[in-house]
Amino acid sequence: MTAAFLGEPVGADRLTTARLVVRPHAADDAVPLARLVDNWNVVRWLAEVPFPFTAAAAQDWLARAIADHAAGSHCQFAIERVADARLVGQIGLKRARDGGAAELGYWIGQAHWGRGYAGEAAAAVVAYGFQRIGLATLSATCLADNHGSLAVLAGLGFRAAGTDWRSFAARRARIEVPLFRLDRAAWGSARLRLADPPS
Ligand SMILES: CC(C)(COP(=O)(O)OP(=O)(O)OC[C@H]1O[C@@H](n2cnc3c(N)ncnc32)[C@H](O)[C@@H]1OP(=O)(O)O)[C@@H](O)C(=O)NCCC(=O)NCCS
Repeated sequence: MTAAFLGEPVGADRLTTARLVVRPHAADDAVPLARLVDNWNVVRWLAEVPFPFTAAAAQDWLARAIADHAAGSHCQFAIERVADARLVGQIGLKRARDGGAAELGYWIGQAHWGRGYAGEAAAAVVAYGFQRIGLATLSATCLADNHGSLAVLAGLGFRAAGTDWRSFAARRARIEVPLFRLDRAAWGSARLRLADPPS
């Protein structure tokens, strides 16, 4: 199915990286999704995700994600490892009210941390957001002590841009979080600098 995200058809897009396929969700993602997310070490960092994350919660979340993706309000992708076709995480771009901006969010199942999957998938989705969808700005937030996510965002070139508030359902708390931004122009010029041959 082809969906409109910010006016562009993106529904069937699959992004391929060295080790991963970043693809739209399928209904049979519910079981692996529940297995990976129903873990306090993952859920405690995620806004708006309840704990425990039951099979029913996974099915509800997935139905919403597939519908949002089709409606174009939220671009939701499963992160699948090419080597064994296993689901290892999730990543999404949530459209802001300003049509040129979207918020990046992601998680990786704990068994798969520390292998560079978040950075690899996020780099592909950032490029997709800027180059394919034509977004001007991406934003992201994470809890101030989420050192893993802070490192992922820094590696992508995100810069501090104040603070915002998010509801953390598993913690039953609304918490002030640092806000980060990455503009297409800054991302493009950093990539050009990286591509420059040494003088
Ligand atoms: C944060 C998270 C996405 C990182 O995933 P990952 O696949 O392990 O991250 P990567 O292996 O791609 O690492 C990217 C960078 O972060 C660093 N990093 C990863 N985990 C880290 C940690 N716990 N503490 C400090 N640095 C960390 C890596 O060293 C790497 O740095 P480098 O680019 O300088 O080499 C993962 O731990 C996770 O899903 N956590 C729970 C949910 C969550 O926090 N989601 C984000 C909500 S904002």
